[in-house]
Amino acid sequence: MRFCYADPPYIGTAERIYGDHPDYQGEVNHRELIAMLHKDYPDGWALSLSAPTLYEILGYCHEVGADVRVGAWVKPWSVWKDKNVAYAWEPLIWEGGRKRDWKVRSTALDWCIDNAVMYRKNDPNHTKGTKPDKFCFWLFDVLCMEPDDEFVDMFYGSGAVTKAWERWKAMPHFWRSNTACSGRLDSSAQQSNLFTDGNLPSKARGATRRR
Ligand SMILES: C[S@@+](CC[C@H](N)C(=O)[O-])C[C@H]1O[C@@H](n2cnc3c(N)ncnc32)[C@H](O)[C@@H]1O
Repeated sequence: MRFCYADPPYIGTAERIYGDHPDYQGEVNHRELIAMLHKDYPDGWALSLSAPTLYEILGYCHEVGADVRVGAWVKPWSVWKDKNVAYAWEPLIWEGGRKRDWKVRSTALDWCIDNAVMYRKNDPNHTKGTKPDKFCFWLFDVLCMEPDDEFVDMFYGSGAVTKAWERWKAMPHFWRSNTACSGRLDSSAQQSNLFTDGNLPSKARGATRRR
């Protein structure tokens, strides 16, 4: 099966945040992006977006008849500017996905908890919005992906999602299907080399240890 994950700049933020990045190509047209995802990826796709734009994005999904679900990436540690009520979670919407054989694969959850990552130390562009490993493993589980699936990481950025996909594919089936998802991944496993490439910011690493 063929799946796509789209992690574009949030609506209206591309130039301000990514204007000097080599892959910057102007503001992303989210209406066209969703129409394309819905048409070109019938097996399944997922899109990251900001909470304030959820209503607008769901409107675009409705326009093309995309039957999406909404999941939540909750961030115990993140950077926020709003001093009233922080935006400390991020929606993930998805459509489709493999039908799960729950006899061999645990039910996925529609939420995931992991700290935000500022940027990857081996990423020369210091891509903002890079995704942590646990989020990626949750994404693969939500779409019920299998190692021989084709995976399109449409907004590559630091490459964190593609690299997590390569690591996830190499995991034994048991870990992939039972621990590499949302709340089931405990902090000791999260800190092992298998589950993280060690790019959590020091503050976040401390927060993880204290949980
Ligand atoms: C949220 S980041 C992706 C982060 C990536 N998933 C990761 O984990 O590192 C969005 C990426 O899209 C790029 N970008 C910005 N505007 C774009 C455009 N119009 N078309 C394609 N990519 C664009 C940015 O430079 C950035 O690398």
